[in-house]
Amino acid sequence: YFANVPQAPADGILKLSVLSKADSDANKVDLGVGAYRDDSGKPWVLPVIRTAEQRVASDPNGNHEYLGVGGLPALTNGAQKLIFGADSPAISEKRVYTIQTISGTGANMVAAVFLRQFKQPADAAVYISKPTWGNHRSILQTAGHEVREYRYCNYGTLGLDIDGMLEDLRAAPRNQIILLHACAHNPTGIDPTEAQWQQIADVMAERGHFPFFDCAYQGFATGDVDKDAYAIRLFVARGFELLVAESFAKNMGLYGERTGCLHAVTKDAALVGAVSSQLNRLSRATISTASAYGAKLAGTVLQDQGLYAEWVENMGEMSRRIKDMREGLRDRLQSLGTPGDWEHVARQIGMFSFTGLSKQQVDVLRDSYHLYMTDDGRISVAGLNSGNIDYVARAIDAVVRG
Ligand code: LMR
Repeated sequence: YFANVPQAPADGILKLSVLSKADSDANKVDLGVGAYRDDSGKPWVLPVIRTAEQRVASDPNGNHEYLGVGGLPALTNGAQKLIFGADSPAISEKRVYTIQTISGTGANMVAAVFLRQFKQPADAAVYISKPTWGNHRSILQTAGHEVREYRYCNYGTLGLDIDGMLEDLRAAPRNQIILLHACAHNPTGIDPTEAQWQQIADVMAERGHFPFFDCAYQGFATGDVDKDAYAIRLFVARGFELLVAESFAKNMGLYGERTGCLHAVTKDAALVGAVSSQLNRLSRATISTASAYGAKLAGTVLQDQGLYAEWVENMGEMSRRIKDMREGLRDRLQSLGTPGDWEHVARQIGMFSFTGLSKQQVDVLRDSYHLYMTDDGRISVAGLNSGNIDYVARAIDAVVRG
């Protein structure tokens, strides 16, 4: 029976963690998977999450019962306000449904299966940015979608190719599904400006496209949850119906707990009943009920004013350290006189920098310098710290000079 099963290709991001773990060289630097590290290269449990852990552990009513099919209300209600804004008319008009998911990936998958079953027209394709997070294509194709790309990165300047993007969105047939990164684009770290988001919304409205947002870095990108939600709130205010996949892996440091949500905004409250029933059905069929522990931690933070304020400070600390590392790497490359313009490293935002290094240079960095990054030249800036940044700059300098 199993003899017919072909080998699947290894995941480009996860395979790096395996390779890097197996490398015991003292100089090793892991800039692969997007997971925050502190300045000593260690995973960082957010102080606010430590407090939430204690609260959850000492809750006299705590238990290990199943959550309801929609998830933990403390999380889903809090997440809704976080994404759309506490004063969002969509929330007060009861046009939003939120279901708890297995982090951002689970939210993407529930959304993908839902869209596969109910998209209009039935042959609509899903358009992803070129490039995008490697798992997007895999999730969408697994759900049975045709996947097409729109231009996004200008590979010459390592900035946004806004003209190419708008042209592709205009040239696509009407009523396609467009997957957009809400902020801190993965893998490029290149985000549209607010004015560019307005242009994108204009074209999408003109063409009747459906926005499907992936939001994995709210608050982590800039330290400001409202700023990072700009694009989503703009599209809601413009009257779009949409889906938002939301992850709490990065912004709460809850990687292994798999905590996230999927939000659906409808144009009319009367539509929420059917939409929520289908999302609940899909979730029941795949995970039955969502996982409780991370939801209790995140829900505790979102529902308590004091903890919420502390959380925003914790995110500010992460985003400031990443910004320092970006500027530090740019400064070092510039003072080494490394050929090329390295401004983009400081200009890009979020967890990643799209360095512009070629696959061949990435291979040499891995094999000769024990420096791990994805094949497309993406580095997780959070993997840089004061102990390894000089080494990384010198290694990049050496391979760029060839
Ligand atoms: C990444 O892109 O490295 C992260 O989002 C982790 C993952 O699941 O791929």
